[in-house]
Amino acid sequence: MNKINIAIDGPAAAGKSTIAKLVAQHFNMIYVDTGAMYRAITLFYIQENSEDFDELVKKINLEIILKDGQRVNLNGEDVTERIRENDVTEKVSYVASKEPVRTFLVEEQQKLANQKNVVMDGRDVGTTVLPDAELKIYMIASVEERANRRFKDNELRGIKSDIESLKTDIERRDQYDMNREISPLVKAEDAISIDTTGLSIDEVTNKIIELANVKL
Ligand code: C5P
Repeated sequence: MNKINIAIDGPAAAGKSTIAKLVAQHFNMIYVDTGAMYRAITLFYIQENSEDFDELVKKINLEIILKDGQRVNLNGEDVTERIRENDVTEKVSYVASKEPVRTFLVEEQQKLANQKNVVMDGRDVGTTVLPDAELKIYMIASVEERANRRFKDNELRGIKSDIESLKTDIERRDQYDMNREISPLVKAEDAISIDTTGLSIDEVTNKIIELANVKL
């Protein structure tokens, strides 16, 4: 079997991580959530209360543990759940637009995918992090569906939210991510678009498994 990398990009809450995890499980590949890395730096930014992003990335001790799902350690502390909270979500697109942050994380992500066999989800994986990925997916869904899914997700995680604010947040983050100067959210030319509105998790997962099977 060939070793391949799969890039899954798309706007906020389009179901990328749920699907990426299942595809990775199916092929026994490693799942990498790049959004969690931006969220961890954002938490550090909040803790340090500093706009000096060069200094922040120099000081940060970020550990990504890729065993049985991804865990994130920030300066020795497991912040995997903490980085999903609203204060981080509100600020993450701002922090992710900063050049030192992107340069630092893209390099880390490229190292993680170096051995291949990685399913990586994010905003710029197919365009910038892994431009040579063998399979690139661009996943979209209507804002209503994305807000509903995020609402259920948050409920499971014990995070309070309401649909209208989720919609506003999703649209605001998409605008920010699509319009930033450095590697904005955009479909890679060679990516395959999948609109997941109205599709079940299994339907989307199976579609990607079929596409990947052709490359293996
Ligand atoms: O995927 P998730 O919603 O957790 O990502 C949080 C934020 O991190 C995104 O809204 C985006 O601003 C940033 N991000 C990014 N590039 C990536 C992954 C995430 O800019 N590859």
